[in-house]
Amino acid sequence: MPFVVAVDGPAGSGKSSVSKEVARRLDFGFLDTGAAYRALAWHAEASGIDTDDAASVVSCLDSFDYRIGTDPTGYSVQVGAVDVTEAIRDPQISAVVSAVARVPEVRRHLIELFRSIMAAVDASGIIVEGRDITTVVAPDAPVRILLTASEAVRMGRRSAELTGSSVEAVGEQLRKRDAADSKVVDFMTAADGVTTVDSTELDFDQTVEAVIGVIREAA
Ligand code: C5P
Repeated sequence: MPFVVAVDGPAGSGKSSVSKEVARRLDFGFLDTGAAYRALAWHAEASGIDTDDAASVVSCLDSFDYRIGTDPTGYSVQVGAVDVTEAIRDPQISAVVSAVARVPEVRRHLIELFRSIMAAVDASGIIVEGRDITTVVAPDAPVRILLTASEAVRMGRRSAELTGSSVEAVGEQLRKRDAADSKVVDFMTAADGVTTVDSTELDFDQTVEAVIGVIREAA
């Protein structure tokens, strides 16, 4: 198993962009687990499945052919031959992904997939980010971080990313998603042994440096 850095945090905490940059600077692999839940939600919708119906969602796991691109300059994801990198960021997918992610069989299936990706990574280390990485997917990782930021800052950052959406609309969706996701896993409080990095007062570069600092301390 490579050196695993587990990063959890709520929506809009910056964990994807920060983790991706940390991985780039350290020449580590990177795994965005939320992208896989999003891709499964996309696959369910593309298959005409009602994402609120758990049994139907489970039935499309067998045909879920999830692939991560090898382009070192970006992180692309595919379902079968279809590149869904952009499509999985659509607000429609954000609105239904929690319903897909709360199904226990979906979680078991994806956790297994994540562990096999981690074991096969072609680098000395891998940054894995999501909601349950520090507690369920890789609880024995040598570095475990909870990346947080105040709700106001998270909403502001997310609405800046989604051009054309108001802070209020983005905030509403973010709150709804965090509330739904929190019923499944606790990613708002750090579990025992998990280091909290609060980026409320930090800019992007400072947050990247703070995470690298935690990794260097443990390495
Ligand atoms: O990280 P991101 O916001 O892209 O995650 C999308 C969704 O995937 C979350 O809202 C959550 O429902 C689900 N998720 C999860 N466990 C993870 C990562 C994401 O349940 N480890």
